[in-house]
Amino acid sequence: MIKRPARIVAHQPQLSRWPIGHQVRIAILSDLHACPRWMPLEAVEGAVAQTNAIGADLIFLPGDFPGHLPFSRPLEPASVVNALAQLRTPFGVYAAMGNHDWKDDPSARKSRAASTKWHDALEGVGIPVLSNQNIRLKSGDMELALVGLESQRAFGKWRRAGRSADDVERALDGIPAEMFTIMMAHEPDIFQVSDRRVDLTVSGHAHGGQIRLFGRP
Ligand SMILES: [Fe+2]
Repeated sequence: MIKRPARIVAHQPQLSRWPIGHQVRIAILSDLHACPRWMPLEAVEGAVAQTNAIGADLIFLPGDFPGHLPFSRPLEPASVVNALAQLRTPFGVYAAMGNHDWKDDPSARKSRAASTKWHDALEGVGIPVLSNQNIRLKSGDMELALVGLESQRAFGKWRRAGRSADDVERALDGIPAEMFTIMMAHEPDIFQVSDRRVDLTVSGHAHGGQIRLFGRP
């Protein structure tokens, strides 16, 4: 069992098109990689309690829920999502999926199904999974778009044609040009190509590091 609390990193980006007259606090809980030996259920529950203590307006879960570490098997989705269902926030909890969510469901990956057991489990406890789709978040007269991109490495180790499940055009479909837009994508690969339609990008996957060696991110 992990006895330390999870590491919290705070950022305060200055966003020129930010449409709201006050600050909004977004908590991002990513890459849980839940598994009994390294990230047991108690540690997931601890991270949920820490996140709730932040008092965020919104919570994003950008993927990689199951563990994949040596000598340990992933936790089953039901126990992890039941812990995540305890997250509390006034404007909602939203998820996007990562490479390991697909890897943990070989039959869905092989058949290129529309969803994995992790998608289904999250939706089952009322946490929407944004899979190449967008929604509007409204508060009073403010409105912004939240986009969730499907994993860019769903069907292979690297982001290549035919190995990705992401569809940027479909994900952004219907968002007015003037609307402030946040995109959540598990892998940050997509953000190397700047897209003027997106104001703020959020990802996980890099586990705190973002480097490129020999052309690979
Ligand atoms: Fe990942």
